[in-house]
Amino acid sequence: MPVLPPKTKTIYECSECGSEFTKWYGKCPNCDAWNSVAEKVQISAAPLATGQIRRGTVQQINTIDPGRQTRYSTGMQELDRVLGGGIVRGGLMLIGGDPGIGKSTLLLQICAHLGRDHKILYVSGEESEGQIKLRADRLHVAGDNLYILCENDMDTILQAVRDEVPDILIVDSIQTMNLAEVTSASGSVAQVRECTAAIMRTIKQMDIPTFIVGHVNKDGAIAGPKVMEHIVDCVLYFEGDRHSSYRLLRCVKNRYGSTNEIGVFEMGDGGLEEVENPSLMLLSGRPLNVSGSCVACTIEGTRPMLAEVQGLVSPTGFGNPRRMSTGFDSNRLSLILAVLEKKAGFFFSNLDVYVNVVGGLWLDEPAVDLPVAIALISGLKDTVIPAGCVAFGEVGLTGEIRSVSNVDQRISEAARLGFKRIIVPHHNLKSVTPRQDVVVVGVRTVREAYEEMQSDGQA
Ligand code: TYD
Ligand code: MG
Repeated sequence: MPVLPPKTKTIYECSECGSEFTKWYGKCPNCDAWNSVAEKVQISAAPLATGQIRRGTVQQINTIDPGRQTRYSTGMQELDRVLGGGIVRGGLMLIGGDPGIGKSTLLLQICAHLGRDHKILYVSGEESEGQIKLRADRLHVAGDNLYILCENDMDTILQAVRDEVPDILIVDSIQTMNLAEVTSASGSVAQVRECTAAIMRTIKQMDIPTFIVGHVNKDGAIAGPKVMEHIVDCVLYFEGDRHSSYRLLRCVKNRYGSTNEIGVFEMGDGGLEEVENPSLMLLSGRPLNVSGSCVACTIEGTRPMLAEVQGLVSPTGFGNPRRMSTGFDSNRLSLILAVLEKKAGFFFSNLDVYVNVVGGLWLDEPAVDLPVAIALISGLKDTVIPAGCVAFGEVGLTGEIRSVSNVDQRISEAARLGFKRIIVPHHNLKSVTPRQDVVVVGVRTVREAYEEMQSDGQA
C-alpha cells in the first residue's frame, strides 16, 4: 500500500485562547484579544491504513544509552561558561538581544577558534558576503573552514546544510528567514516559529550544533525570540546599554547545564573582548571622597560582582518631585524612599531623587536595596561614605535589613578588591566565615547601616 505524504494546511490560531480559525482576524472573535491571531502551518501525520495502530517504544530508564555528549570549546571562556562548558553536539542555541548589541560580532568571533578544527557554515540573511568579509577581516577571522551563505529562503539553506554537512551552523537572524509554504512575511510569528522548527528537524537528524540569532523587538511588529524559546535547547540573551561598552550574556534556559551563569564582554575596536574581572572594570574610575556614592555587592548568576550605586538628591524646581533611576527598578526606589521617610526619618518629599548604577548594569537583586538607600542618605546629608566600605542587604517595609544569600562569596569578592569594611544584614552574621583581612559589621536597620558606614570604625 503506498504511503501518503503528510498534508500541510494553513490555519490561524489565537495565541491568547488557542482558538483556531480558517482566516485571519485583527481581534479574536472568541476572547476579544487584539493582534493575537497568527498564521500557523499544520502538518497532519500520514494517514494510517484502517485497523493499523501506531505504537511508541517505551523504555526503562536504566536501559537507555545516553550517548556521548561531545562539547566543543568556543575559544571564549565567558561564552563556554554561559553554555555550561561549551557547545553541545546537536544542540540548538538561541542568542537574543537588541539589534546592534553584538550578536553577529560574537558569532563571527567564535568562528576564528572553532574554524581551526571544524567546518562552519555561517548563513546570513542580513548582510552581504562583502560586508561579512569586511567585518571578518576587522575581527581577524579567517580560515579555510569558514563558509558563508547569504540567503533568506529556508529550503535553500537547509539544502545547503545537507550538501555541505558543516560541523557547526550559524543562522543570522531568524527574523530574516523565509519558508515558502508560510504565506506571511518574514519576521512574523508564523515564519519565525516554522523556520525554527524546520532548522531543528534538520540539525537534530544530522547532529549539527546550531546557533540562531533572534532580535528582541519591543513594538511587536517582529516576532521576538520568545516564540521559539520552547523549541530550542539553550537560550542566551545579550544585555547591556548600547551607549556603554559592556555587554552581559545571560543564559535563561539550558538543557545541558545550569542557567546560573553570565558572561561579561566589552565591545571595542577589535570586537568583543572577554572581561575576566568585572568588579574591577565596574569600579574603575570611581570618584573618591564624594557624597552620594556607595559600592554594592551583587550576585549575577553564581558570580559575585561589585558595582557602584550613585544617588543624587536636589531641590525640586517646580511641581512634583522627580524620581528617576537607571539600572534599578523605579518601583523599588519608591519603596525605599517611603521606608527612609517613614521608618528612618530621612525626608525626600520636596527633593528630586536620581539613582544610577554605574556601568550600564541592571541590578534587580534585593541585596542592592541597602546600598541604594545608603547612597541616597549620603546624597541627602552630603556626607562621604569611606572608600573602603561595601554594603548589601534587602530593605524590608518596616525599615529592617533582611538577610540575603551567598554572603561568604560576596565578602570574598569585596576583600579581593581591597575593601576593608563590609556591612551585612545582622541575620547573616552567624553564617559568615571569620576572616582576618576584613571587618564584617551586621546591621538591623537602615539608620544603623548608615551610621556604621559613616563611622568607618573610628567611633
Ligand atoms: P552587531 O554584531 O552587528 O549587532 P547585532 O548582530 O546584535 O545586531 O554589532 C554591531 C555593533 O557593534 C555596531 O554598533 C558596531 C559595534 N562594533 C564595534 O564597536 N566594534 C567592532 O569591532 C564591531 C565588529 C562592531
Ligand atoms: Mg547582526
